[in-house]
Amino acid sequence: MTLRMLVAGNWKMHGLSDDIAEIQAIAAAAREYPDVDVALCVPAILIERAARAVELPIGGQDVHFAEQGAHTGCISARMLRDAGASLTIVGHSERRDAQRESDAEVKAKAEAALACGLDVILCVGESLEVRNSGKAEATVDAQLQASLPTEHGVARSISEQLAVAYEPIWAIGTGKVPTTLEIAAMHRALRERLILQYPEDGAKIRILYGGSVKGSNAAEIFGVSDVDGALVGGASLKRDDFIPIVAAAAETVEASGEAA
Ligand code: 13P
Repeated sequence: MTLRMLVAGNWKMHGLSDDIAEIQAIAAAAREYPDVDVALCVPAILIERAARAVELPIGGQDVHFAEQGAHTGCISARMLRDAGASLTIVGHSERRDAQRESDAEVKAKAEAALACGLDVILCVGESLEVRNSGKAEATVDAQLQASLPTEHGVARSISEQLAVAYEPIWAIGTGKVPTTLEIAAMHRALRERLILQYPEDGAKIRILYGGSVKGSNAAEIFGVSDVDGALVGGASLKRDDFIPIVAAAAETVEASGEAA
């Protein structure tokens, strides 16, 4: 099944007020590719300004699982929405690692965001050690299984609101990318898990690849089956780096002959 491609940028801890102009430039250029969904997940403090400046979906990079309360420094799903976000990343490996986020916490965050009507990009991925041990698929599958939200409380259908991003930790910011065979095997395993978890909608949930995606390798990655888009870090910061990735997604859609 060909799904509508999603190319999302994760600005991580980059971006100041001056960069709203770059977000506007990205949004203007993205309009040229109506068959591809494009979104930018920016630092929380920029969400409101970005969302006011562009029609492009703007997202957060994390969300707290509680509705409100004594959680110093944290941001709730309602706060993200209130600021103008329409989506959020949860479970990025940089947070799983540095903030010691567990699968259970990631699941609770995804559920809180979905219940609030936010779209969610749920990240999973293995370390180099796990990859070298030959257990990458089993490990990432277990991580996904434990992190996936229950459908209960989802504002719209789960496939409309949820995307999964496979981001091998060793490929993030390193310039290293798994082979297309490795990506295909992992995405197939994740697809099977999604169908098991959501028999109705699992086949329609987008599975993004993330980790050193660039204009130069995007077309090859998008050609892999069950790759329904990308989560892009460094190359999402500048229009001239990001838009070629969006263009590659559009070309893949065109070549497949259907924009679902
Ligand atoms: P890079 O594209 O910089 O490797 O980052 C990937 C990532 O972590 C996106 O969430």
